[in-house]
Amino acid sequence: MSSVAKRLQPFGTTIFSEMTALAVKHNAVNLAQGFPDFDGPDLAKNAAKEAIDAGHSQYARMFGVPKLNAAIAGAFSKRLANPADPDAHITITSGCTEALPATFLGLINPGDEVILFEPFYDSYRACVALAGAIPRFITLRPDSTGRFGFDEAELRGAFTDRTRAILVNTPHNPTGKVFTRAELELIASLCQKHNAIAITDEVYEHLTYEPTLPHISLASLPGMWERTVTLSSVGKSFSLTGWKIGWGIAPPNLTAGVRAAHQFLTFATATPLQFGAAAVIANPGPIVEQYRALFRRNRDVLAKALTDLGFKAFPSDGTYFIMADHSAVSARLGASDDRDLCQKMIERCGVAAIPPSVFYENREHGKPFVRFAYCKKAETIDLAVQRLATLAK
Ligand SMILES: Cc1ncc(COP(=O)(O)O)c(C=O)c1O
Repeated sequence: MSSVAKRLQPFGTTIFSEMTALAVKHNAVNLAQGFPDFDGPDLAKNAAKEAIDAGHSQYARMFGVPKLNAAIAGAFSKRLANPADPDAHITITSGCTEALPATFLGLINPGDEVILFEPFYDSYRACVALAGAIPRFITLRPDSTGRFGFDEAELRGAFTDRTRAILVNTPHNPTGKVFTRAELELIASLCQKHNAIAITDEVYEHLTYEPTLPHISLASLPGMWERTVTLSSVGKSFSLTGWKIGWGIAPPNLTAGVRAAHQFLTFATATPLQFGAAAVIANPGPIVEQYRALFRRNRDVLAKALTDLGFKAFPSDGTYFIMADHSAVSARLGASDDRDLCQKMIERCGVAAIPPSVFYENREHGKPFVRFAYCKKAETIDLAVQRLATLAK
């Protein structure tokens, strides 16, 4: 009998740990977990080292080192044309991964309903369970252009008088979808109609690749600042995934909930790394544009290679990821589903990817797909493409 608490038993070990362990065992090119295979910006690293040398090694202020709160307020205000107050509105957390349970535990009551789009970043489903809430799912499906979208009537039907929150992840992992203004306006109108809050996960906010589909924060739409907790982190945008510096931005009444939980989850986050993050957020220079150019190039190379092999690669307008339908390739290789295909790819050609069925409540919905991460050096993607080509034989 499992000794894991009942509320967490359904979730097991995350797929990222599982696939990364398999990739290491087979010396595979790891396009499974979303982390770059190169170092983040020197500016951030040097500022963190200087902070250590300057003696910043004790607990930080519970809601963040003032320099970091100020840097985020500056960057956020520019994007939103809405002044975020560094002390009243911003809480620094240990990555977006801590900001999520802090928000759920601090603002959602047991029995509240929370709307999630599936496929979802797997921690959302566990956060709903930790909060004792009831999840409602809206499935994103590829349309005739291959872009993922949702059914308006289905979303309208998911909102009830018990809906406390909707979680919106844009740009979206794993589909690479960037929510359009029209989609966000519909979500905003439903939140206001049903007096629900929005929790947004915007960790890929700087990583969009199509000028016609820019990142839009839900909190920038009329009537939404008051009811939105905007979450993000330095991990993805600045190639510092191991730093785990994240944050939540919200009006004071919602910030009160986030902090009520954060103070008992971690209380505060690694002090010197907050100084490092502050330096690069305040002065990003061209680095994010360089990462974006690299990832756009990798996305295009990978999409072409996948298409040539018989995958149906869906457009990835943002994030680190590309989703593809593997049905034709699996038929050729005799793979029964996404998990089997990922296993076969690791064993037969030494490339690791993620089987996305784990990101769906109804796993059947995800079985035709496979997710590849392209947030790597160009030569890593080129090597993966060479290895994948052996699947054609
Ligand atoms: C959508 C999404 N949110 C949050 C995270 C984790 O963010 P952090 O590293 O800041 O905890 C990830 C990482 O894969 C992600 O894809």
